[in-house]
Amino acid sequence: MGEDCELEVRNLSCQFGSFKAVDDVSLRVRRGSIHALIGPNGAGKTTCFNLITRYLTPTSGNIIFRGEDITSKSPSQIADRGLVRSFQICSVFQSMTVLENVCLALQRKTGDQYAFWRSKKSLKNLHETAVSYIEPVGLLPWLHKPASDLSYGRKRALEFSVTMALEPKMMLLDEPFAGMGHEDIGGVAALIQAEAKDRTILIVEHNLSVVQSLCDRVTVLVRGKVAAEGDYKSVSQNDQVVRAYLGVDP
Ligand SMILES: Nc1ncnc2c1ncn2[C@@H]1O[C@H](COP(=O)(O)OP(=O)(O)O)[C@@H](O)[C@H]1O
Ligand SMILES: [Mg+2]
Repeated sequence: MGEDCELEVRNLSCQFGSFKAVDDVSLRVRRGSIHALIGPNGAGKTTCFNLITRYLTPTSGNIIFRGEDITSKSPSQIADRGLVRSFQICSVFQSMTVLENVCLALQRKTGDQYAFWRSKKSLKNLHETAVSYIEPVGLLPWLHKPASDLSYGRKRALEFSVTMALEPKMMLLDEPFAGMGHEDIGGVAALIQAEAKDRTILIVEHNLSVVQSLCDRVTVLVRGKVAAEGDYKSVSQNDQVVRAYLGVDP
């Protein structure tokens, strides 16, 4: 495996009863790249993310992160290694303020998540760093508002700053723009692009113009199998992709 390969998935399968949700998927994500995973609803994209982060156990196959086989590691061991996902369903703490949510993420990164509950004073030192993750997503006016007060799109923006505050080596983003207003997409896309300079991003995204402008490489999943892989141009011209993906969800 080349030095520049951040994540490699080898022959990954996941079966629910007799149904193969993920069927012999192999994937290599280059370090420092933004790699898109696209495909129709039910293709197995979220299941792939669940397998990679071990929220699900693969039926077979291997997951190699930065040269280490992490197939048998736990979700928290994987997160400790710097491979972090953001959830398709919003995962911020509703009763906590924007600032508190990002501070909590910063403390998790240091492996001391319980300190947050013990000491409100030590938290103050984190505020400056937290603000540096909150400002770029446009949430400064809501700094001291509970997350429950935010619109859905702003919750997604908060979720994104929380994920960034964990300062992962690699981020898995499952439909990060879902539910966002058109006016917010450009800003968050720019942020993803800026973040990708220091890390690797694997992103599930339905909006093909976003994929085209943001992603270096695209893997197309259809019924649990890799149907095509390449840059956007070659993938979008692939007959099987046009039929199976664009035909279903134009
Ligand atoms: N825990 C589960 N048990 C049974 N079937 C599941 C489970 N999770 C996902 N599936 C099925 O696997 C298929 C792939 O789902 P998913 O990975 O969520 O697709 P995508 O994210 O590409 O839309 C779907 O048909 C879904 O119903
Ligand atoms: Mg999904």
